Amino acid sequence: MVSIFVAVSYSPPLPQLPLHFIATGASANSEASASHPLRPFWNLKLEDGALWNRLQHIWDREHNPILNGNDTRYKDQSLEIQPQETGKTGACEQDEAWASQLPDFNTLPEQMKDFVLSMHCRRYAILMDQPNLCFGQDSETAFLLMAVKSQVGNFENRQAIRETWGRSGQIQGDGGGRGWFVRTVFLLARQDTETGPHPDLSALLKLESSTHEDILQWDFKDTFFNLTLKDVLFWDWLSKHCPHVHFIFKGDDDVFVRTKALLDYLDHVGVQKTHKNKTKGWDDFIVGDVIANAWPNRQPDTKYYIPESFYKGAYPAYAGGGGVVYTGALAMRLQEVSHWVSLFPIDDVYLGMCLHRLGVSPTHHSGFFTFDLPEDLREKPCAYHNVLLVHKRTPKEMLTLWKELQVPPQQC
Ligand SMILES: *[C@@H]1O[C@H](CO)[C@@H](O)[C@H](O)[C@H]1NC(C)=O
Ligand SMILES: *[C@@H]1O[C@H](CO)[C@@H](O)[C@H](O)[C@H]1NC(C)=O
Ligand SMILES: *[C@@H]1O[C@H](CO)[C@@H](O)[C@H](O)[C@H]1NC(C)=O
Repeated sequence: MVSIFVAVSYSPPLPQLPLHFIATGASANSEASASHPLRPFWNLKLEDGALWNRLQHIWDREHNPILNGNDTRYKDQSLEIQPQETGKTGACEQDEAWASQLPDFNTLPEQMKDFVLSMHCRRYAILMDQPNLCFGQDSETAFLLMAVKSQVGNFENRQAIRETWGRSGQIQGDGGGRGWFVRTVFLLARQDTETGPHPDLSALLKLESSTHEDILQWDFKDTFFNLTLKDVLFWDWLSKHCPHVHFIFKGDDDVFVRTKALLDYLDHVGVQKTHKNKTKGWDDFIVGDVIANAWPNRQPDTKYYIPESFYKGAYPAYAGGGGVVYTGALAMRLQEVSHWVSLFPIDDVYLGMCLHRLGVSPTHHSGFFTFDLPEDLREKPCAYHNVLLVHKRTPKEMLTLWKELQVPPQQC
C-alpha cells in the first residue's frame, strides 16, 4: 500500500503521451473509477508448516470479515477432509486419512493420534440432558451458571461441590443484600466398559442424574484431549437452552470457588461497566488466570505435548482452564465463532483461539489461583480473603474449607 501510495502521489515530469497508472491486478478497463484490485494483494500463501495451522488458515480466510468475498475462497486439494458440518448424531467415524497429513504420525503418543483421527468430529449425541436446568421456579433465568467439567467416576467431587460452592438456588454475596439465582451443571462424557477398562457405573450415574437433575452427558470418550468437545457442545447446549444467562463459570471439579465473592465481584464490575455507559461492555467480558505468550509444550512424554507437525507458533492469550468466568453474551459469540475454529486438543488454549478471532482479550484477576496458593498460606483461612478460585482441593478439603469460610475471619 505504501509503495502504491508513493507511486500514485509521485508526479514525474509529464511525458508527452497520456499515461494511466494501473496497479497490478487492477481492472484495466474501468477508466472512470480509481484502480480497484481484483484480488486482495496481501499474502495469501498457505501456511503449510503444521496441520492445525493449515486447516485454520483456510477457515480464517473464508470467514475473514475483511476478505469476505468470492475471490478469497481458497481450496486446498490436499486437505479434502473438512471438519464435520452436517452429521446429525454421534455416528462420526475416525478417519485414517488424517494420518497421511502428519509425516510423523506413527511416532506420536496415542492421545495425539486419537485426537488427529477424529478431529473432524464435533457433533456428538447428548445422552443425558436437562433442558430446563437454567430456569428457577418462576422461570427466572440463572444469573450465574456454574458448568463443571467432571468424569463419570467423580461422584464424590460432584457431591462435595453441590454441598459447598456449587449449591444451586438464591445465593447472596458476602456483603448480604439481594440474592442471585445460581445453578450448577456437570459436563460429562463417556467412561464406561465400551471406552476402556472402566467399571460399569451407569446405574449409579442414572440415579444421581435423576436425583439432582444437574448432569449433561455426551456420547464421546472422556479423555484429556477431548475436553475441547465439552466446550463446543456446552456452547451449543447453552444457545438452545440458556441463551439469556448472565454469567458462566466454567471449571474443573477439583477447584474451590468462593461463589459469594465471585458474585460480589461480578456485581461490582457490572456497576462499573454500566456507569461508564458501555452498553456493549459486557459482550466481551471474560476473566480468569490469564496466561500470555505461552508456547506449545514440545516434550513428547508430557500430558500437554503438541508436536510441531500439528501446531506451529505461540498460543494466543488464554485463561487457565481450572476456572474461568465469562458473560452469556460472550458465550453466544463463542458458540458462533467456534464453528470456524478447528478443534485443538487443549481446551483452554482453544478458548483463547476463539477469543482471538472475536478480537476479545481475557481480563486477568489475581484471585484465580489455578496453580494454588503458596504452600505456607494454604492452611490459613485469612489467605483465602482475596481468593476467587483455587486449584486443587479434594472433596474433603472443599468441605473443610467451606466450613471455615462461613465465618468471615475477623482480622485479615
Ligand atoms: C459469489 O458468487 C456467487 C456465484 O458466482 C454469486 O451469486 C454471489 O453473489 C457472489 N457473492 C459475492 C459476495 O460476491
Ligand atoms: C474423543 O472421542 C471420540 C468419540 O468417542 C473418540 O473416537 C476419540 O478417540 C477421542 N479422542 C481422544 C483424543 O481421546
Ligand atoms: C448511554 O449511551 C446511549 C447511546 O450511546 C445514550 O442514548 C444514553 O443516553 C447514555 N446513557 C447515559 C446514562 O449516559
